[in-house]
Amino acid sequence: MSETRRAFVILSHTGPLTPDFPLADLPGSAGRMDILCRCATEAFLVSHGIRRDVLLYFVIRDRLLIRLDGERLRYLNPDERSTAALIKKAIAMAQGNPPGKWKPSTPGIHARWGDLATVRAELEAAGFSLYILEERGDFLRRVELSERAAFFLSDHKDFTPEDLSHLEGLSRISLGPRSLQAQTCIALVHNELDLREAKWTSASSC
Ligand SMILES: C[S@@+](CC[C@H](N)C(=O)[O-])C[C@H]1O[C@@H](n2cnc3c(N)ncnc32)[C@H](O)[C@@H]1O
Repeated sequence: MSETRRAFVILSHTGPLTPDFPLADLPGSAGRMDILCRCATEAFLVSHGIRRDVLLYFVIRDRLLIRLDGERLRYLNPDERSTAALIKKAIAMAQGNPPGKWKPSTPGIHARWGDLATVRAELEAAGFSLYILEERGDFLRRVELSERAAFFLSDHKDFTPEDLSHLEGLSRISLGPRSLQAQTCIALVHNELDLREAKWTSASSC
C-alpha cells in the first residue's frame, strides 16, 4: 500500500453481506451491486491498463469491508458481471473470518468485518488526507489536495447521520452543481488529479 496515492471509499447501504446473490440480478436482489462494480471499473481501468496507484474500499452496510488494491489487482475486467464475481468471492472469504483481520481473496482483493471507522483509521494511519465528496462542498478545482488523498462517496442513497458521524471533521468537496452517479464522481476526480500531476493548465496542449 506504500506507493498508493489515491483512495476511494464507497458506502453501500444495501449491498450483500453473504455471497448468495445472483450475478444475473446485480441491481435487484444483489442490493445495487451494479454500482459497486461500475465504481471499480472507474477507479482502476484506463485504456488497456490498470491504475496501480489506487485503493478502493466498499463499506457494505457499515459491517463488511472489501478492499481492492491496484498494486496487486488482477482479473478486473470492464464488465459488471465478472467484477461482481470477484466481489462475491471476497464476500465468501469473509464468512467465518474473525473480526479484525483482512482475509485475502483473489490477487489485490481482501475482505474483513469492520465499519466505516475501521476504514477511516486505516487510511489515516497510511498517511492519507480524507475528503467527503458531496454536492454542497467546496469546488474541487479550487481546493488544494494532499499528495495522498482519499475520497468518501455514498451509493444511490444519501450519507446517513451515522455515516456522517464517522466522517466528522472532514472537508467536503463538490464536483459541480448536479448530483452525479458515484462512478462519474470517481472519473472526474481521477481526471482532475491526472491534470494536476501532469501540470496541465487550460493553456496546455498535448
Ligand atoms: C447518486 S449520488 C447520491 C444520491 C443522492 N444524494 C440522492 O439521494 O439523490 C452518489 C454520491 O456521489 C457523490 N456525488 C454526487 N454528485 C456529486 C457532486 N456534484 N459533487 C461531489 N460529490 C457528488 C456523493 O458522495 C453522493 O452521495
